[in-house]
Order: sequence, then structure tokens, then C-alpha cells
Amino acid sequence: MNAQDTIPAPAKPAWLDPSAKPFIRIDAVTKQFGPFTAVNNVSLDIFKGELFALLGGSGCGKTTLLRMLAGFEQPTKGRVFIDGQDMTDIPPYERPVNMMFQSYALFPHMSVEKNVGYGLKHERMTDAQRKDRVKAMLDLVQLTPLAQRKPHQLSGGQRQRVALARALARQPKLLLLDEPLGALDKKLREQTQFEIMNIQEKTGITFVVVTHDQEEAMTLATRIAVMDQGEIRQTGTPTEIYEFPRSRFVADFIGSINLCDGTVNRTGGGKAVVACEAWNAEVTVACDDALSVGSKVSVAVRPEKIAIDRHKPASGLNILAGKVMDLGYFGKDSLYRVKLQGNTLVRVNRVNERRASEGERVADWEDDVYLSFDPSAAILLRE
Ligand SMILES: Nc1ncnc2c1ncn2[C@@H]1O[C@H](COP(=O)(O)OP(=O)(O)OP(=O)(O)O)[C@@H](O)[C@H]1O
Ligand SMILES: [Mg+2]
Repeated sequence: MNAQDTIPAPAKPAWLDPSAKPFIRIDAVTKQFGPFTAVNNVSLDIFKGELFALLGGSGCGKTTLLRMLAGFEQPTKGRVFIDGQDMTDIPPYERPVNMMFQSYALFPHMSVEKNVGYGLKHERMTDAQRKDRVKAMLDLVQLTPLAQRKPHQLSGGQRQRVALARALARQPKLLLLDEPLGALDKKLREQTQFEIMNIQEKTGITFVVVTHDQEEAMTLATRIAVMDQGEIRQTGTPTEIYEFPRSRFVADFIGSINLCDGTVNRTGGGKAVVACEAWNAEVTVACDDALSVGSKVSVAVRPEKIAIDRHKPASGLNILAGKVMDLGYFGKDSLYRVKLQGNTLVRVNRVNERRASEGERVADWEDDVYLSFDPSAAILLRE
């Protein structure tokens, strides 16, 4: 085999490469409105070609942070760098940035085509170039057949795509999208999410997307910053945020999770044994760090990581007895709510692999069951 036949190793993502230069550097940025701190000492590096999501509940400061990148707000403290350049004295229209606002207003009297071309009015280009650019953008968002319609003749999703095409038309290096899919129903949202990912791949533009929808962030993003009350609580890839949350807040915010407070009873061999009072059980959790006996922690287990059975497993750690209180059937999976002996409810998610008729389920209402999970499936939280 010669050298050309070897498949090159996938490039290391930029955020893991200490020599990589960030495309956006948010350096200790604080934004105050009077006495109120909307963004509190946020530092964040975002790399070229990322589709980065800012995720958090209403009022946590997402839009404010985005507006500081676009230049519509000035930081009270700290600095923003884009492509190595300090943005402090650069007005919005001179930044290599375009922003699609939370309420993207299209011009109602203009056709789709005119709306998309509007942003190019002040660009130095010929009429022919402008026309070509608009055509390319409409192709990209698959709206060419609707080019002559007015916004009121479009569906919500189509309007959203016009706004996206308009934001992309100037070919910014950085596109900021504030809740871009907020107005869409679930199916259309999913479809548009994939379209955004495709557009990102085709154009190589760096995207920062604001959302309060964690599933959306998980689907779209290369990395996610989880925000709470003006601060970033954790930054990581969707997998890191989901599988390795570092705090109760992040664990609870992302997806569904069972949380229980406890006290460390014993440690050793890469594991900790935690007395979980509300679960009326000692739980063994994988844990690499030094933890002192007696420290207060929380144990978290995702519903899909718990097995449920009518029969007690013959061996294994972390076996909890309970009774099925609720059972929700969602087609592809079922959700059980199981009451443990300590009276706490634990949620268990089970994928329905086989077609089962009534009465063939793993467990039914009021059944006595055993829950079990592996120590590596549980997360130990100290914050
Ligand atoms: N111009 C302003 N003057 C005073 N307070 C402001 C101003 N703009 C935003 N705020 C406050 O700052 C906080 C953060 O607002 P921001 O719009 O960034 O939230 P958000 O995370 O985008 O929320 P949502 O998901 O609801 O859009 C809020 O409490 C808001 O009331
Ligand atoms: Mg907002």
C-alpha cells in the first residue's frame, strides 16, 4: 500500500488545538443596563466554520451577547475580537457580520427576490452580479419558484428561509441568528435545521445561533454554551454537554434526568459509593477524581440509561426496587415513572424495539419492578 492509499486522520477540531486562533474572541465581557447585569464576565472563543449555539432560558442574556458581537450594544467591560481585530470602535455596518433578528421583519410590499436583494443595495457590485447573487441565495434556500411572491403569500417556514437568504446575501464571514426557527412547527423546524447545517457546510460561514431549545442546539451545533443569568455555565460539544454535565443546572437543563442528592460513603478503584437518601439506596458511580468521604454530591442518571424489569437482576450494582406509577407510550419509546421505596419518582425510558400488543409490555401499571444501571451510566455532580 502506498502513502496515497492511507486515509488521513480526521482533523482535530480547532477548539482542541491550542495553536488554533479563534475567529471570535469574547474577552471578559460584561453588559450592564443601569444596575442590572445582563451579561456577566463572559469569555468565549469561537472558531472559523463553527455552528455555535448559545443556549439558555428566557432573559439569560443570549440576545444581548449576540448584539454585542454585531455591534448594536457596547460592552460595559471587556472586549470583542473578530478575525483578530478589536471591534470596540467598529460600527455594526463595518463589521464582517450579519444578524438575523429574533423577529425578522421582511418588507411586506417587496417580493421574495427584492427582499433578498435589499441588503446588497449598498454593496459595490454590478446589476448583473447582484442578480446572480440573489439567484444563488434563492437556490440555496430552495425558494427560486417563489421568487415573485410577497411575504404574505408564504408559509411561516418559507418566510424564515427568505430572512435567512437575505442575511446570507452579503456573504458575511459571521452570521448571527437569533432564535431562527422559533416560529416553525416541529417538522419544519427539523427540516430547516438540516438546511442551515447544509448551508453552513456549503458556505463555510461561521454561525452563532441563539436558541432556548436544547434539542435544536444538540442537533445543529458543533459546540454549545449553556447560559444562565448572564453567565456561561458550561461550553462543550453536544455529547460533552449531554453525557458530562458539570453541574446540576446543566444536567437538568439539557434533556431529561433523574437527580438525587447524596453523601459519599466510600471511594476507591475509580468509583464512589454514594448514599442517596431520597432513592433509599447506595449508588455506585464511576469517578476518577479524588473525592473525600462525607462530601455532599448529587447523582444523576438519564432515563434511557436505566433498565427496567419485572425480575430482579441476578447480579450487578445499582439495583433499585419500585412500582410503576405511570406509563406513557410514544410509539418509538415508552416512558415509565417508577416510585422507589423512598417514594421518589424515577423516570425510565425504554425504546420499543419490537412491535408489542397490549399486555406484552416489559412492565405495566402497578407492577413491581427492578431498575438497574451501570456505575458508568451515572454522573457525579459536585456543583
Ligand atoms: N435595553 C435594555 N435595558 C434594560 N434591560 C435590558 C435591555 N435589554 C435587555 N435587558 C435585560 O437583560 C436581560 C437579558 O436580555 P436578553 O434579551 O439578552 O435575553 P435573552 O436570553 O435573549 O432572552 P429571550 O430568550 O427571552 O429572548 C433581560 O433580563 C432583559 O430584561
Ligand atoms: Mg432573546
